[in-house]
Amino acid sequence: MVAIANVMDFREAARRKLPRLLFDYIDGGSYDEVTLRRNVADMSAIGLRQRVMRDVSSLSLETELFGQKMSMPVGLGPVGFSGMYAHRGEVQAARAAHAAGIPYCLSTLSICDVEEVSRKSGQPIWFQFYMIKDRGFMRALLEKVQACGTPVLVFTVDLPVTGSRYRDMRGGISAPPTLPVLLSRYWQGITHPSWLWNVQFTGGPHIFGNVAPAVKSRTIGAFAAWVAANFDASLTWKHIGWIRENWKGPIVLKGVLDPDDAKQAVAAGVDGIVVSNHGGRQLDGARSSISALPGIVDAVQGDLPILFDGGVRSGLDVLRALATGAQACLLGRAWAYSLAANGQAGVAQMLSIIRAELQVAMALTGCTDVRKAGRDLLG
Ligand code: FNR
Repeated sequence: MVAIANVMDFREAARRKLPRLLFDYIDGGSYDEVTLRRNVADMSAIGLRQRVMRDVSSLSLETELFGQKMSMPVGLGPVGFSGMYAHRGEVQAARAAHAAGIPYCLSTLSICDVEEVSRKSGQPIWFQFYMIKDRGFMRALLEKVQACGTPVLVFTVDLPVTGSRYRDMRGGISAPPTLPVLLSRYWQGITHPSWLWNVQFTGGPHIFGNVAPAVKSRTIGAFAAWVAANFDASLTWKHIGWIRENWKGPIVLKGVLDPDDAKQAVAAGVDGIVVSNHGGRQLDGARSSISALPGIVDAVQGDLPILFDGGVRSGLDVLRALATGAQACLLGRAWAYSLAANGQAGVAQMLSIIRAELQVAMALTGCTDVRKAGRDLLG
């Protein structure tokens, strides 16, 4: 490939740059990946109305969420393990997001911890939170996150248990460390020398920074076992109260896919939701995020901001989601691919592509202000 034109070109560049087990970890979904495919297919099936003669010489992409100004209605959503895709990957991605004037949300399961990313990226980041059974540990983590000036807590609720991901099991990241698996991993490392040098040799320490004090072992298998044993599957709506007691700022619930759950979220008093099926990595067979969005918008009736993720691969997709009723989109794989392909510069380039695509889509639908994008753009 001579030049990168869009997000899928970054995907191809990431495929070449990364050991296969890491590319598969990013690219894959659960079971037969039906929901993963639906997210993308249903998104591209959303039609937009072509409009003409509407003076689109000046377009406003700016918006605001939870008191924070954003240069466009896009953020980098939580993607775990990113420090394995590029050298201190979370720091590089956060720097690119901040330079572009949009928020970066750090996953609980990141390599670089919240202090490192906040400090090195020069401004506070959003933090994504998984509830771990040990509440003392969670309280201490939330205190640390709050001390970093974190403005928004994203509480992911669609992972009480981890969805099975066949790609990761077939010799991939979650395969048991048998001799053939280990030999394959070494081979994948030495055949990807730039990754080997930049990440494996010089990008350490390779621990899950935020949860390192709770996880004793460093192997990926032991980490998966720790997640299975320590993520709290007993969560209910009443636990929002516990988070409120321990967190002062806005709480955004991520992983809402059903209108009834969206109504419960409003009743529970959260400050926003992310309509999401975890990028097709959890319940395979669940509906696509974009097909769930209209019902949720109707159920919530403007009572809280709705963020959206799943299958966003272009600025055109961003407008599709806004037209369907979201206030902003979070990117997942789009930024993971671009980070793997070319670090901070890759994420920055991907974001300018998304911005340009959004501008063109706005101009050709006659939408001059993202805050006014609505169902009248669909057709
Ligand atoms: C994720 N996602 C995710 N979500 C979350 O709340 N915490 C996490 O740690 C992760 N980790 C993670 C790793 C990888 C490799 C991927 C691809 C995704 C889900 C993510 O935030 C988002 O919901 C989806 O990625 C959105 O779908 P698309 O945009 O990737 O299609």
